[in-house]
Amino acid sequence: MGMKDMLLELREKALQDLQAAKDSQELQDLKVKYLGRKGPMTEILRGMGKVPAADRPKIGEVVNQVKQTLEQTIRDRAEILKEEALKAKIANEKVDITLPGRKPACGHLHPLTLTAREIKRIFIHMGFDVIEGPEIDNDYFNFEALNLPKDHPARDMQDTFYITDNYLLRTQTSGVQARTMQAHEPNTPIRMISPGAVYRNDYDATHSPMFHQVEGLVVDRDISLADLKGTLELFCREMFGDDVKIRLRPSYFPFTEPSCEVDISCVICGGKGCNVCKHSGWLEILGAGEVHPNVLKMSGYDPSIMNGYAFGMGIERIAMLKYGIDDLRLFFENDLRFIRQFR
Ligand code: PHE
Repeated sequence: MGMKDMLLELREKALQDLQAAKDSQELQDLKVKYLGRKGPMTEILRGMGKVPAADRPKIGEVVNQVKQTLEQTIRDRAEILKEEALKAKIANEKVDITLPGRKPACGHLHPLTLTAREIKRIFIHMGFDVIEGPEIDNDYFNFEALNLPKDHPARDMQDTFYITDNYLLRTQTSGVQARTMQAHEPNTPIRMISPGAVYRNDYDATHSPMFHQVEGLVVDRDISLADLKGTLELFCREMFGDDVKIRLRPSYFPFTEPSCEVDISCVICGGKGCNVCKHSGWLEILGAGEVHPNVLKMSGYDPSIMNGYAFGMGIERIAMLKYGIDDLRLFFENDLRFIRQFR
């Protein structure tokens, strides 16, 4: 068989193989097989020296043509295989648009945040400003300016985390009372609440070393205990429902005079008596009173013209009563079985 016939036969065989290639890997293997360094085309080119000189141009032309044909076919075939692969991939990835969608996991607010927001909402509706104070405070604002001079025995009511002799983690939000008065021109009327974290050296089912309070302060002319009682009654009804009753019991705080403890009728038994209210029918929810004249005076207010009331409530306590939670530590353990109930 002459060189030319050999080449044409090789071409036929190669074209058949290339058309039959099922994927780009097979195609690549065939390219190596026919056109690679060890393939027949290379061998033929190497053998050109043995071809009689007169035939060389003719044969060389055929060799080139065959080579070009094979290269072109490989390119075309590669293009086709690529498209087929893409089509197959799309067919496989078909989306069933009738399937119900997957909801992205979405978080929600912590029960304490919900409760704080509800408290704020109620007081904002009654015209209160929301003012925040620092969690690290000094002895002056946390105690002195609230009528609790150094060595006053009432400091023992709050087991304090001191940072230095002067700086401490605030034990109550009441310091914001003095801060707010001192931030105003003397005798400017004030109606504010101040929510935030406070710290005490306590830990059991009803006490956590970090908890939250909302302070309230109203200062104006002719503010009476009736204003305090009316405002808190409205707050409690909004928070716990229209049927809730409140009562004031005499108590003691250094920064209010007179002072009281405010109870609500038990939200569990409605006042008949149960375990939660220890069979008294009442639950204590906050401390309050008329602002002590010394507190007004120390912050530049004139107690002969201005007076007011203050109150302080624990957000955890309100949340426990509102949602019927019996252990305060649940708020801080971040057990999702607990937290998710407030979604
Ligand atoms: N600061 C008091 C406490 O933490 C609560 C309180 C605030 C009482 C304002 C009276 C007036 O116990």
